[in-house]
Amino acid sequence: MDSKESGRHWENNAENWSIYTRKGCDIHRDYVNTPGFFSILPDVKGLVGLDVGCGEGHNTRLLVNDRGAKMSACDIAPTFIKYANDHEQQQPVGIDYQVADAQQVDDHYTAGSFDFVTSFMCLMDLPDQPRVFDAVYKLLKPGGFLQFSIIHPCFMSSPKSHFIKDENGLEVEMRVLDYFTVTNGEYVERWSFGISRKMDPNVEPFSVPVFHRPLSTWVSMILSAGFIIEQMHEPKATDEGIVKHPRLKYTHDICPIFLIFRVRKPTTDVPKVTK
Ligand SMILES: C[S@@+](CC[C@H](N)C(=O)[O-])C[C@H]1O[C@@H](n2cnc3c(N)ncnc32)[C@H](O)[C@@H]1O
Repeated sequence: MDSKESGRHWENNAENWSIYTRKGCDIHRDYVNTPGFFSILPDVKGLVGLDVGCGEGHNTRLLVNDRGAKMSACDIAPTFIKYANDHEQQQPVGIDYQVADAQQVDDHYTAGSFDFVTSFMCLMDLPDQPRVFDAVYKLLKPGGFLQFSIIHPCFMSSPKSHFIKDENGLEVEMRVLDYFTVTNGEYVERWSFGISRKMDPNVEPFSVPVFHRPLSTWVSMILSAGFIIEQMHEPKATDEGIVKHPRLKYTHDICPIFLIFRVRKPTTDVPKVTK
């Protein structure tokens, strides 16, 4: 599957995703991924950043409002950008949103113009990660960094891997299968936020094409683009998250479901790591 087609799935998801995340239904984003991401983010006050795969802009706004960065942001799905721009019009914080495919992001922005790039839970949703890493490398100033989160490839992304749940629907065990099987969108996951199903049992499930790569492939792709790996983080639910949603304790007791990398463009060109 190419990114045009996977982007169409995301365009179909965008309206419901925006509505329900804004109602607080994405508890894994709000109490696991985003706090973990910000806990390792370097000081970005006054720095110029780009958020790739920004969705309706929730985390981009946090980068501006909580961390003082100057942000641009892009997403492949026009409806996400519409929601982000509507918010910007109602409560302006100076974010420039564009519709753009992460794989062609270097066609939309000037090379060497960003101090840092973020991407929250986007890069496992597209087919050509090496193309994205190359494009982001070009956009960064020497010494700039890319920090991104993905579904944890060791536990979650393979279509057959899943949690075993008890009679109350609580996660008790993780079963990992087919870890080495690379997928390119031939498998499309259908799911919805648990809380949105409680609000509306007829809510249309999201459709998410799966592009699974083993961890070693992620590391090779990062190094092949010329980046240095600076930090890895496997976030767990915050204390507040566990109080509000006790189920999230499984992120402490069983395994992580997200993986965060921070990678840096060297200040001087170094030979790229090849196979
Ligand atoms: C799981 S959502 C995360 C959204 C947002 N970053 C957040 O954390 O709330 C994945 C996002 O990646 C976007 N996306 C998927 N493929 C993309 C591509 N090729 N280029 C840019 N964005 C893409 C989707 O439209 C969606 O907004």
